[in-house]
Amino acid sequence: MQLSNRVAFVTGAGSGIGRAGAFAMAVQGARVVVSDLDGQAARAVADAILAAGGQAEALALDVTDDDALAAAITGAAAWHGRLDVLHSHAGIQIPGTLEQVTAAQMDASWALNVRSHFVAAQAAMSVMKPQGSGSIILTASNSGVQYDREMIAYCTTKHAVIAMAKQIAVDYARYGVRCNALCPGFVDTRFNAGFEVQMGGRAGLESYIAGSIPMQRFGTADEIAQSIVYLASDQSSFMTGHALVIDGAESL
Ligand SMILES: NC(=O)c1ccc[n+]([C@@H]2O[C@H](COP(=O)([O-])OP(=O)(O)OC[C@H]3O[C@@H](n4cnc5c(N)ncnc54)[C@H](O)[C@@H]3O)[C@@H](O)[C@H]2O)c1
Repeated sequence: MQLSNRVAFVTGAGSGIGRAGAFAMAVQGARVVVSDLDGQAARAVADAILAAGGQAEALALDVTDDDALAAAITGAAAWHGRLDVLHSHAGIQIPGTLEQVTAAQMDASWALNVRSHFVAAQAAMSVMKPQGSGSIILTASNSGVQYDREMIAYCTTKHAVIAMAKQIAVDYARYGVRCNALCPGFVDTRFNAGFEVQMGGRAGLESYIAGSIPMQRFGTADEIAQSIVYLASDQSSFMTGHALVIDGAESL
C-alpha cells in the first residue's frame, strides 16, 4: 500500500473530489482526518471508510475560521504523532464578470480559495518541517492555468493558489516537504451548480462539456482521487511545485 502508516488531513472532504480522495488515500493505508463544513457529511465519509476496513475520523470544520483550521491540523498531528499529507481542498465558485462580482464576493472567494490554503499549509508546515517530510496538496483548478468566460473571482483566486503552491515548493524543498497544486477540470459534482445556471441548465452544461472538452465528457471524482494518491505518496517523490492538470485536455 502506498500510504501505510501515513496520516492525512483533508478539508472539504464531505463530498465530491475531497471525499473520493479521502477514500482513495484510506484504501492505500492512510489514517485520514475527514473534515468538512458539514459535520454530518464528514461523519458519513469517515463511517464509509471505517466500514470498508480503513482508518478515519470526522471533524466539523469551517476553513474560513483561521484559528479552528490551524488548531484542527496541529491537533490532529499531535494526536497521531505525525502529519504526512495535507489536502487542502475546500473552495468556492462565484460566477460573474468584473462588473457583476461585488468586492464582498471577491473577498469571500479569496477567503476560501486562497487564504484558507495559506492558513492550512502554515499549520501543516509547523509539523512537517521539523518532521523532515510531508506532502501538501492545494486544490486549484484548470481555471488556474486558463481563463474562463465570466469567472473573474474564480480564475483570479485559482491562479493565485497555484502561485502559492510553487512558492511553498521552492522555499521548503530543502526541508523534505513537497507542495503541489491539484488542477481538475470539469468533474460532475454539485460544485458546478453555479456554472450550470450560467449555461442555462443541465442540458446547456452537458452541451458545453461535449463541445469544449476534447474528451467530450466530465471527469469522475475517482479519476481525480488517483492523482491525489499520486501526489500524496512517494510515487511523486521528485515532484514539487507542479500544477497537475487533469481535465481531458480542456485547457489545451
Ligand atoms: N467539481 C469540479 O468540476 C471542480 C473542478 C476544478 C476544481 N474544483 C475544486 O474542487 C473543490 C471542491 O470541488 P468538489 O467537486 O469536491 O465540490 P463539492 O461541492 O462536491 O464538495 C465541496 C465540499 O466542500 C465543503 N465546504 C464548502 N465550504 C466549506 C468551508 N468553508 N469549510 C470547509 N468545507 C467547506 C462542502 O460542504 C462540500 O462538502 C474546490 O476547491 C473547487 O474549486 C472542482
